[in-house]
Amino acid sequence: MISLGIEGTAEKTGVGIVDSDGNILAMAGKQLFPEEGGIHPRLAAEHHAEWIPKLIPQAIEESGLSYDDIDLISFSQGPGLGPALRIVATSARSLALSLKKPIIGVNHCIGHVEVGKLDTGAVNPVSLYVSGGNSQVIAYESGRYRIFGETLDIAVGNCLDHFGRETGLGHPGGPVIERLAKKGSYVDLPYVVKGMDFSFSGLLSAAIREVQKGTPMEDVCFSLQETAFAMLVEVTERALSHTQKDEVMLCGGVSANSRLREMLRTMSEEHGAKFYMPEMKLCGDNGVMIAWLGLLMCKEFGPMDLNDTRIIQKFRTDEVDIPWIDNSKS
Ligand code: ATP
Ligand code: FE2
Repeated sequence: MISLGIEGTAEKTGVGIVDSDGNILAMAGKQLFPEEGGIHPRLAAEHHAEWIPKLIPQAIEESGLSYDDIDLISFSQGPGLGPALRIVATSARSLALSLKKPIIGVNHCIGHVEVGKLDTGAVNPVSLYVSGGNSQVIAYESGRYRIFGETLDIAVGNCLDHFGRETGLGHPGGPVIERLAKKGSYVDLPYVVKGMDFSFSGLLSAAIREVQKGTPMEDVCFSLQETAFAMLVEVTERALSHTQKDEVMLCGGVSANSRLREMLRTMSEEHGAKFYMPEMKLCGDNGVMIAWLGLLMCKEFGPMDLNDTRIIQKFRTDEVDIPWIDNSKS
């Protein structure tokens, strides 16, 4: 069975083609870089409307297949920006109807975890999924992927990007902050873990205030990273202890950060757990993860009725039954 997946929950448009053995046959993508400010949902939607019709034929060509070889159209049903999701769902429906192929909508966050497992060989990890729009600690337990911890306000990537924009470092802030942090030393910033959840908005305001006070940018960047990442690693560590799993996986666009990788790897090794991270091109949003999860879901539940393909803007990771993981190994 061959699945074509369409991704577009935020500012990246992606189309991927995968077969049921997990071979990646094509992967095409186009990122929107806003001229100023953050991501505007309408601009993201316009970006998808422009690029989905271009990326689909590009992916088909790359795969060497014909449209007729595609057995399933998968799309990201949520969570994400409403206008962006609507364009993705409409494109997927149009493609499925015109090709007379079945369709399935899937959860974007689970897509990250499943493609990570496919790429790394991890079997049942505690996953830290960190991006511009999401920050969650996810692990499988009792039939579903459970959220062991998540952000109470903004995502960690959003925190870095917002800091970058407010302080003139540009967008996206993550890579620039990482570079500057290499030369910084520590200043105190608020560390907020409440129960198993983390919060980044107070940290963001405090970091901006430090810059306004004249604290060297390198020091603020270093401290922002150290504080934010320590919060993420603490919650991942506690989820690892609670679940007694022996694998940790990092995914999402913030995985690009080598300091976060180092901190998470060190924590994992201290617990005797193996640390995994998918290839960077599979860490960020992509169509392959949607195509692959569509195959896994379709094998278990069959395709969707068109009436069930409505977008789910606040689609939670723990809303989906996951029968393909062996419960005895969880
Ligand atoms: P999602 O829809 O899953 O929320 P996204 O639209 O945020 O995804 P991604 O490509 O997964 O897209 O992640 C982008 C984020 O990754 C941005 O916030 C960016 O600042 C961050 N990022 C990229 N490189 C680095 C880095 N080196 N260090 C820290 N953050 C980084
Ligand atoms: Fe994502």
